[in-house]
Amino acid sequence: MPAKFPALTRRHLLASAAAVGALAAVPLAAPGVFAAAHDRPLALPQLDEGRVENGVRIFDLAIRGGQTEFFQGRPADTIGINADYLGPVLRMRTGETVRMNVTNDLGVTTTLHWHGLELPAWCDGGPHQPIDPGQTWSPEFPMRQRAGTYWYHGHHMGHTAEHVWYGLAGVIRVEDAEADALNLPATYGVDDFPVVLQDRWFTRNGQLNYAPRMPDVMMGMSGDVALANGTPQAFVDVPAGLVRLRLLNGANASFYDIGFSDGAAFWQIATDGGLLAAPVQRDRVLLAPGERAEILVDMADRTTRELIADLVPIGGGMMGRMMGSAGGTLRFLQLRPTGAATGGQVPARLTSLAKPDPTTALRTRDFELNMGGMGMGMGMGGGGFTINGASMDDTRIDETVRMGEPEIWRIRNPSPMAHPFHIHNVQFRIVDRNGRAPDPGEDGFKDTVVVNSGETVRVLLTFTENADPEGPYMYHCHILEHEDAGMMGQFVVV
Ligand code: C2O
Ligand code: CU
Ligand code: CU
Repeated sequence: MPAKFPALTRRHLLASAAAVGALAAVPLAAPGVFAAAHDRPLALPQLDEGRVENGVRIFDLAIRGGQTEFFQGRPADTIGINADYLGPVLRMRTGETVRMNVTNDLGVTTTLHWHGLELPAWCDGGPHQPIDPGQTWSPEFPMRQRAGTYWYHGHHMGHTAEHVWYGLAGVIRVEDAEADALNLPATYGVDDFPVVLQDRWFTRNGQLNYAPRMPDVMMGMSGDVALANGTPQAFVDVPAGLVRLRLLNGANASFYDIGFSDGAAFWQIATDGGLLAAPVQRDRVLLAPGERAEILVDMADRTTRELIADLVPIGGGMMGRMMGSAGGTLRFLQLRPTGAATGGQVPARLTSLAKPDPTTALRTRDFELNMGGMGMGMGMGGGGFTINGASMDDTRIDETVRMGEPEIWRIRNPSPMAHPFHIHNVQFRIVDRNGRAPDPGEDGFKDTVVVNSGETVRVLLTFTENADPEGPYMYHCHILEHEDAGMMGQFVVV
């Protein structure tokens, strides 16, 4: 175990649970100071193809502590997977069998969850698959997803937010024959880039310090420094042609309204669960924590442009105003078209997707998201964050769903904030929001859906495999502080 990690364990991981707000939360600088330098090359995670043995694609992943110089000369204690901060991009193909050998060299118990994948419950990596220090956990499962951008992150009960804040997350890149045939930009690090979008705040010494106070639990933890793959002030050289960005909102809590500083239009080609039927031309895409979008931007005009995100105020009504929802703009990544002209065509069509047909559902299941008991006296991790009136209890099964039966899950949000609702082990379709059809950029496969304050969202889903009465999956708010505070429930597929 690297010597520096126990220091992180003692000083932060254990202390932060109790010592709330004890350390001075002084931002390193005002956001404006960092506005436009873009003098740091974008970190490109290792592209990990694993190794194939007896037809199984095997990935060896070690979760460990590390040190990351977000600011020169001020190394921060961080967590990574085979790296100091974040982890490799895991590349695999639809239909393969994959095995993940996940070793925990962290010094504290954690988990690794495969977000967006349909897999047996014992492979899910949620709260029921803790990996103790020094142990290796080896789930093996068929890769059933369509080509697309999925991800993995820590999911230890009560510690998801903390572990992800320090860096315990990475991207999964799935490919298949249908997507290959489209000739989209797909050369890693050349015209195809994963972009993990996160915001963090740092202490004066450049340390990440996860010590949420009551308002941080309410609103979720956010910061003033924009990180792209862990790089502040990032730039990247790109060819003068079509460039593909695989965007992941890997923030704990912030909702990003993403676009380019010059208002350039782009094409959204994929949602959480892979390709849309056709590219959707737009100049903004909203991603809440946990959501992904793949976009194509045409750099043939050789204009240097910045990928930015306006912070969306997620609090509605009086409570939102009271809590002072964040505003402002994070300037994530500058694209510099320095390379050769590569051209490239945006295909007119991508795949065939049937319209979701709600009349196929055999039943409707109701979920209500609440932040009741939001008194000012509520402490960190205190009650009040509920789904259908109950806080997460890992000994209670909230829903039993029958395999193969289409259902509508109707999610109501009477609370004063928006919540991104995520369901494990499924890719669903959005039927409607308050009775209105989803916008074209959401009309694909999803595993996480924003439910705004006052909204009712209906999704259509079927758990097609993986029945296991003993193995619970989670559904929860993907604002990680809300998840840890109890806005999570469990279901089994039988
Ligand atoms: Cu991305 Cu249950 O999580
Ligand atoms: Cu998940
Ligand atoms: Cu929430």
